Amino acid sequence: MKHFIKETDFAANELPGLFATARRLKQSRGQPAAPVLGGQTWAMIFAKSSTRTRVSFEVGIHELGGNPLFLNKNDIQFGRGETIQDTAKVLSRFVHGLIVRTYDHEDVVELTKHATVPVINALTDFLHPCQIYTDAFTAAERWAAPGGDLVAALKGRKIAYLGDTAFNMANSWILGASLFGMKLSLAGPAGYAPSKEIQAQLKAEGRALDYHFTNDPYEAVKDADIIYTDVWTSMGQEEEEAQRVADMKPYAVTAKLFAAAKRDALFMHCLPAHAGEEVEQAVLDNPRSIIFDQAENRLHMQKAILAALTVKTRT
Ligand code: CP
Ligand code: NVA
Repeated sequence: MKHFIKETDFAANELPGLFATARRLKQSRGQPAAPVLGGQTWAMIFAKSSTRTRVSFEVGIHELGGNPLFLNKNDIQFGRGETIQDTAKVLSRFVHGLIVRTYDHEDVVELTKHATVPVINALTDFLHPCQIYTDAFTAAERWAAPGGDLVAALKGRKIAYLGDTAFNMANSWILGASLFGMKLSLAGPAGYAPSKEIQAQLKAEGRALDYHFTNDPYEAVKDADIIYTDVWTSMGQEEEEAQRVADMKPYAVTAKLFAAAKRDALFMHCLPAHAGEEVEQAVLDNPRSIIFDQAENRLHMQKAILAALTVKTRT
């Protein structure tokens, strides 16, 4: 049983095929397609808000011939204290896969221990792997030769990640850059250095701690191919907002900072964005901003992931 709860759940040698499938699904969208999830229902348990993830999964499952079943955590007994173990066992009797967005990553790990169907991480406080695969695909679309190997096009490219370097998106890029063979510089305030947990994850996987962390945003963006940022106040951190905005102000992606990267550097953001906070509107609107391609590609990449994980065990 294969799950996708962290970037490294697909091996490096599986990635070219996965990305090629996403490209094929994108190019053939709207044409008659094999019902890869025909007769299946996939449950989507969400404990946090979502626009892109929810809609791209619901549309994607439908387009693959399956049925998405959206479950707000508070509407099911899980939200009233039914255990993760029992929830996993019960839902596994009904559905063909579980897609989960929640706070504590360990809850998703726990689900995988008891579910007998594939589990996909749709964002935790620790990681957002569906987003990173999509982002890598979106950049590679710009760099690969037509029909060429998308994953190979990422190798050696440099990404500069600015702002909150201690939460899910930064963690996911730390794992993702290692997997894709990219160079990663993170720039954030001293109190937000990459966490012990992500360092422990790298070590547990035998991966080098080869990212670079600096407090100087200009040092990070030098020679970068991608400038990436995320909101400064993530879901669940609302009470810390004033402090976070004050701490992260020097790391805002301004037009001046963007101009200090490579001349053809791309700007990326997982969205939602707060213009005027972590990024200037002019950067969001720059022709080298590919934020809406990222958003669209969630659909194509997640369809490829669903197709790779599905097990034809039940009709
Ligand atoms: N980027 C992303 O995951 O967006 P949503 O929170 O809208 O799903
Ligand atoms: N870091 C953000 C990402 C949203 C897609 C959050 O967790 O709220």
